Amino acid sequence: MNKTITVAALCFAAATSGAVAQNDPLRFDPDNFTRQSLTMPGGKQVAYKAYEGIVYVKNVEDPTYQTLNIYVPENLADIERVPILLRTYVGGYMASTAKSPSPSDATGRALSEGYVVCIPGSRGSNSTIERDGKTVYTGTAPNGLLDLKAAVRYLRYNDQLIPGESDLIFTDGTSAGGAMSSLLGATGNAREYEPYLKRMGAADARDDVFAAICYCPITDLNHADMEYEWLYGCTNAGVRHLNEAQAAISDELSALCPAYINSLGLRDKSGNPVTADNYKDYLKTFLLESAHRALQEGCEISDTVGFTFYKDKSGPMGGGPGNRQHGGMRPRVDDGRGAPSFGPGNAPRFNKTSDFVTDLDLDKYLSYVASVTPLKTPPAFDQMGVLIPTPSPENKVFGNENGEPANFTEFSLQHRLNDRSAKLSKDMDQRVYLMNPMNFIGSGKSTIAPNWYIRHGAKDRDTSFLVPVNLATKLENDGKNVNFFLPWNRPHSGDYNLDDLFNWIANTLQVR
Ligand code: DHB
Repeated sequence: MNKTITVAALCFAAATSGAVAQNDPLRFDPDNFTRQSLTMPGGKQVAYKAYEGIVYVKNVEDPTYQTLNIYVPENLADIERVPILLRTYVGGYMASTAKSPSPSDATGRALSEGYVVCIPGSRGSNSTIERDGKTVYTGTAPNGLLDLKAAVRYLRYNDQLIPGESDLIFTDGTSAGGAMSSLLGATGNAREYEPYLKRMGAADARDDVFAAICYCPITDLNHADMEYEWLYGCTNAGVRHLNEAQAAISDELSALCPAYINSLGLRDKSGNPVTADNYKDYLKTFLLESAHRALQEGCEISDTVGFTFYKDKSGPMGGGPGNRQHGGMRPRVDDGRGAPSFGPGNAPRFNKTSDFVTDLDLDKYLSYVASVTPLKTPPAFDQMGVLIPTPSPENKVFGNENGEPANFTEFSLQHRLNDRSAKLSKDMDQRVYLMNPMNFIGSGKSTIAPNWYIRHGAKDRDTSFLVPVNLATKLENDGKNVNFFLPWNRPHSGDYNLDDLFNWIANTLQVR
């Protein structure tokens, strides 16, 4: 009895002093590194210590994925508190191993800035192990997210041993990885994840983060189908070429969306309600701002995509009628990835009276987007068994341990079973809930990251524009520092315009 008390007291003392016991399996070993370096695009050599293959949970299920790498630059940034960039390479809701930094994305750039980088692996829809002669799928939702949360906890748990500040973690990911980043930002310390994390043997530490960087997050999965059809339904009879059955599903889904939009209770920057009735005008403000800034940066925008252009010669750059291409006034800015890059996201909002573009025919613009990359057919996400048998990446990640994919919305389940009374299981309801950041923002159930950088390309059709717009707006309404922009001419991609991102990171650290 006495001994138990003594051990408990010692553990408590260790926890409160921040010291991790030498024999703790989750202790970071500061001496176990190799020296590595990378060459940045401009030729700069960046040398760093590499701590690789670190197991971040006590009860490892899948050793291929449940490890993380940490990279510490030899020249740490000369600032009081050095941040940590946690970059996930999750894509398509699949598993991702712990990777090395790359000179062409935010990881290399972070090291070059003198920031610490962590690249965790995580289980996903395609990760398997052999158990008792059977193949077991280890990455069913929310396991990939739990792994990433466990990685955050590992960094916090070892705060005293790992260079950099674990309360300055910036998460970063693209697409499904952007969704993971948004979840890390939105679900910090939420009790709902606790039993799972405990079972995994995650470190006993907080898992909220300082900032979430989300490129084209494929999230709000249980509403994404209706959001897609409500927005892109205008193209059904045109560029989308839907057959009758597809058009009927599209209409059914679309009809569900207004109630969902209204249920969010969103407000614009002036505090006016954003409802299904005025939503499209609200969305247009972001697209107009994108086009406006593109023109300012010297891009050309075709007459055919739906914009109305400013006709006054006294426009801000001297552009006049028919002169909106303002030939050669500025070089086209390009970051080498095939799409122009644009300036800081905190530039003033589009001003109707003094800027280059004054209005947008949204339906025309959406048809343009759909003509660049064919749209997904309805339902865009929970598609299995509704009109085609094929599972989507989302059906797979919501599948079971045997690798059988599953529906995750009542709509698609009911259509697949042809039973309008079919209900999702309680277990599925809970899994879907845990995978949607919108459930947590403003709910008081979690510690939300105070800082957000959200990007979704202006011609990215992998999910509806509603998904990032709602995410950003809900966060803004919740008082968070949100830098949101739809970069012009960007398809589905991430870690672009790194100057803008790293300026934002530096500013965010300053105003902290
Ligand atoms: C990704 C893209 C998708 O269109 C999707 O539905 C899920 C994931 C991705 O690129 O990660």
